[in-house]
Amino acid sequence: MAFNESDILAALRTVEDPDLKKDLVTLGMIQNLQVSEQSVAFTVVLTTPACPLKELIKKNCIAAVRPIIGETTLLNITMTANVTTINANPALPLVKNVIAVASGKGGVGKSTVTCNLALALASTGSKVGIIDADIFGPSIPTMFDCENMRPGVMEKPGDTPEEIKYIILPIERYGIKLLSIGFIAPPDGAVVWRGPMATSAIKQFINDTDWGELDYLLIDLPPGTSDIHLSLVQTVSVTGAVVVTTPQRVALADAQKAIAMFTLPQINVPILGVVENMSYFTPAELPNNRYYLFGKDGGKVLAKRNDVPFLGEIPLVQRVREAGDEGTPVIMESELPVSEAFKEIAGTLAQNVAIRNANKEKTKVVEIKR
Ligand SMILES: Nc1ncnc2c1ncn2[C@@H]1O[C@H](COP(=O)(O)OP(=O)(O)O)[C@@H](O)[C@H]1O
Ligand SMILES: [Mg+2]
Repeated sequence: MAFNESDILAALRTVEDPDLKKDLVTLGMIQNLQVSEQSVAFTVVLTTPACPLKELIKKNCIAAVRPIIGETTLLNITMTANVTTINANPALPLVKNVIAVASGKGGVGKSTVTCNLALALASTGSKVGIIDADIFGPSIPTMFDCENMRPGVMEKPGDTPEEIKYIILPIERYGIKLLSIGFIAPPDGAVVWRGPMATSAIKQFINDTDWGELDYLLIDLPPGTSDIHLSLVQTVSVTGAVVVTTPQRVALADAQKAIAMFTLPQINVPILGVVENMSYFTPAELPNNRYYLFGKDGGKVLAKRNDVPFLGEIPLVQRVREAGDEGTPVIMESELPVSEAFKEIAGTLAQNVAIRNANKEKTKVVEIKR
């Protein structure tokens, strides 16, 4: 045989993961290598099924290996993914990444972005959950058309024979596991929730809930900076935060405050990126026209100023609002440009999670000082 395993590995050492900037062999991404006279087969294990670089990496593998094995040898490359984690939260041992979705102002599309990104990530094969922690306006139940569903409760033996623990079972909708403060708040009682009850609900959603295995758990936070934010970072190690903003100055000023909060030294949650929503208006009958109602590039400038990634722009499109109100997020309709925009942002977000996990330490849970 003119080549062996180490020849193949040597060739694959010349192929880099463009995000992680190391070669695939060093990164441990090459598995199940099988070499015979007639065929070479291996699996490339990417850091996320949503990886937009999948085809490029495969192409580069072929380009590296083919000259070694000649034209007649079969080459079989399987592309899979194993989402990376550095979190290992005691409360959520099987949840790989907790991602906070925040905004400065309300109404900028935080929940819309959360829903569509969750479904986009799930469509590539990731396991995804959402906690709707917005006590001022829990809208995930509406957007997933599950306002009348209720999470299950399971009894579990506690630490002593007399004690019983109650474990919450999230509901599942369109393949996404969900819990919302809206499921337990009385419909007219939002005011009651502004306080310790709301923060303890968040803790229960994390500590006393059986989320099972998840690659990404997205947390739809209330606008601004609140007790809920603090309670989240005190309960769990947050992989990173996504900040949603619209392009106008008032929204950006508030988004800046949200970034400032996460990057406080004592909180230290990495910013995975800025999403600019309602970037421009496109009427259905003039799909190529763009009207920059709220100004242009504000989100990009904000990202640049803070030296954090810019994840992308989502246009203001009537169908996004309608689909949200109907309870079937717009991303479930394929071939709309806005759905493609959400998918691209989801891919970039997943990449940024992998880059963050490769380069930064685990986020420390913030200690409660009395
Ligand atoms: N890109 C968009 N195009 C059209 N409507 C949008 C868009 N993003 C959000 N909306 C609508 O704007 C309203 C506020 O969005 P929402 O996601 O509830 O904001 P937030 O969670 O930040 O308060 C909703 O009615 C939603 O359907
Ligand atoms: Mg909301």
